[in-house]
Amino acid sequence: MTLSVADRIFRRVSRFHTERIATAWGGRHILHGRKPTPGEVVLTSNDYLALAREPRIVAAMCASLQDTGGAAAPSGVFLHGVDHPQIMLEKALAEHMRAAGGILCQSGWDANVGLMQSIADAQSPVYVDHIAHMSLWHGAKTAGAPVYPFRHNFPGHLRDEVRKHGPGIVVVDAVYSTNGSRCPLTQICDVAEETGSVLVVDESHSLGTDGPQGAGMVVALGLAERVPFRIASLATAFAGRAGFIATNNIDFVDYFKMESDPAVFSATLLPHDIAGLAATLDVIRADDWRRVRLREVAAVVRRALMALEFDLEGSASHIVALQTGPDQRTIAIRDFLEARGVFGSVFCWPATARDRALIRFSMHAGLTDTQLDRLIQSCTEVRNTFGGMAPSHPEKPRPTPAPAQPPLVPTGDPSR
Ligand SMILES: Cc1ncc(COP(=O)(O)O)c(C=O)c1O
Repeated sequence: MTLSVADRIFRRVSRFHTERIATAWGGRHILHGRKPTPGEVVLTSNDYLALAREPRIVAAMCASLQDTGGAAAPSGVFLHGVDHPQIMLEKALAEHMRAAGGILCQSGWDANVGLMQSIADAQSPVYVDHIAHMSLWHGAKTAGAPVYPFRHNFPGHLRDEVRKHGPGIVVVDAVYSTNGSRCPLTQICDVAEETGSVLVVDESHSLGTDGPQGAGMVVALGLAERVPFRIASLATAFAGRAGFIATNNIDFVDYFKMESDPAVFSATLLPHDIAGLAATLDVIRADDWRRVRLREVAAVVRRALMALEFDLEGSASHIVALQTGPDQRTIAIRDFLEARGVFGSVFCWPATARDRALIRFSMHAGLTDTQLDRLIQSCTEVRNTFGGMAPSHPEKPRPTPAPAQPPLVPTGDPSR
């Protein structure tokens, strides 16, 4: 019997409900735990610098709303004039990141998809770190480019792949959103230059938190002139709702605005978002103490969890994740933590490989010492009850590339 299109769609929907919610998750949605109450340790937001409710930002947004009424703007292609607030903010953000120019986008997703769509093509292979964000894979696919994943944080494997398939576009995250590992950016940059490739760095989890006044990891490492394109979600340390592309070629700005589908075919940011982000940039540049505190709390937590022998998969940042493995084990650990007043974000397939779920803790500058103690005590109890290591899984990448490995699949993080 041939099924109608509508039946096929319904079958997919119903498979999700039976296979995932009813069976794999035992009748509860894996992402829907308990709601936190005031005073509990909430590590689910990417507001790393604790800027939500910051009076300077709230005041700027309120003033703009009163002034403009929050009128929705049409596509960003129509905006012009050096004194337009959005164009002024693009310039300020580009200067902050030591770039020639920049473009504000409606989200980090739109920035990545639009960027890849407007620089890749069928003749330009795209080399993507295995755990780079899903939006980068998606943009490369939209551009019709051949995509070759390379082993996470493995410049040698990248070099081998480029030698096989030819120069192309190399795509990495500066800090990886699922495990908090940092990209060996200088070595990746060397490989890109030595092979005649173009490097794109996603700074979504390092802009604001790293570098002088929060200028990012590329600036911190002195690589600003060697990285042609950087992007960042501004829904992380900027605690807003936007994305940004920094470019070393000022001519790219107008080209992008007419070439990227999300830029042309979707309404641009709202005036009060722009006002909020402009105020946020000032706060981020001024408040070094937030970065200092963030580094401090992240180091304390990483040290404690490593001493408990958790496999942190190379976390070296403010993102620290417990590798919890199968979905049922993840739900049990999530409930156990929530019962102790500790809330992390669950990531499971398709944000991770199947049966390699994790609970991510996003550290932030507002954490108190008492909250840190509670987090570490709860993780100690997790360790004593469940053990520190998730059951091993055949898809877990090994330290050296081996021909017999299963094909790499995108495991980018679609959260937030
Ligand atoms: C590394 C990375 N890039 C891009 C994005 C997408 O950003 P946004 O949430 O602003 O669309 C995210 C967030 O999920 C991310 O973690």
